Amino acid sequence: MSSVTTRTLLEMKEKGERIVALTCYDALFARLLDASGLDILLVGDSLNQVLAGAPSTLSATLDQMIYHTKMVRRGTERAMVVCDMPFLSYQVSPEDALRNCGRAMKETGCHAVKIEGGQPMAATVRRLVDIGIPVMGHLGLTPQSVHALGGYRVQGRDDAEAGRLKADATALQDAGAFAVVLELVPAPLASQITKALAIPTIGIGAGPACDGQVLVLHDMLGLNDQFSAKFVTGGPLPGPGAFFREVILNWGAPSRGRPTRWVSQTTKNSRS
Ligand code: KIV
Repeated sequence: MSSVTTRTLLEMKEKGERIVALTCYDALFARLLDASGLDILLVGDSLNQVLAGAPSTLSATLDQMIYHTKMVRRGTERAMVVCDMPFLSYQVSPEDALRNCGRAMKETGCHAVKIEGGQPMAATVRRLVDIGIPVMGHLGLTPQSVHALGGYRVQGRDDAEAGRLKADATALQDAGAFAVVLELVPAPLASQITKALAIPTIGIGAGPACDGQVLVLHDMLGLNDQFSAKFVTGGPLPGPGAFFREVILNWGAPSRGRPTRWVSQTTKNSRS
């Protein structure tokens, strides 16, 4: 089984094969997702919201990202594992970025890092790539800038913004990034950027024309009781959240002296 590398992703784009990515935060899901043939497991700083319950990704720390990326790497054999670099771990200076991204690579065994931002980050991307750290870019709605952007809103709607995003994407490619995430970008703009770049684009809420798609795993599974992403194709899978609530109620009912309300076939079979 050959593992997914930056070269594999480039070849996939050239052959028109779609790249499939999901976020992953632990070894158990890493094993399940890796066995299902996913190409990229992104240890997103979204874990700060999804797992840690914070209001944004801004308070995620490098130690937190390293802890989760190590777990994901342990559960992965084939997929590329990408560590999302948290706010202020790469923006202060290129030297600081080298130290922190290098630490993520050394301590977790991940295959690449992801950083947010376009032209202002190009020099940093170049420095990272030059010392052998593969970098995935992230443009459009960049969650670490949520306050500057005025909320979680679609980016690149007007001509000026669209032009800037195109220039940002080209700058990241020229600096040596191996792929770019496009988040909450109008589908026609994402399509234009995808056609203009030689490196793959990975879309999230950016329409179907990107070379790949990424979602937050918990959104895709319908496991987030506080958030439902509009762009999850066909809506979140029906019911795992509700299913778990039902199973837990069912399990707890006898201990409270209440009759069992419901026993699913799955639960029955797994115990017999
Ligand atoms: O943190 C994250 O999960 C991400 C993806 C949504 C692209 O950056």
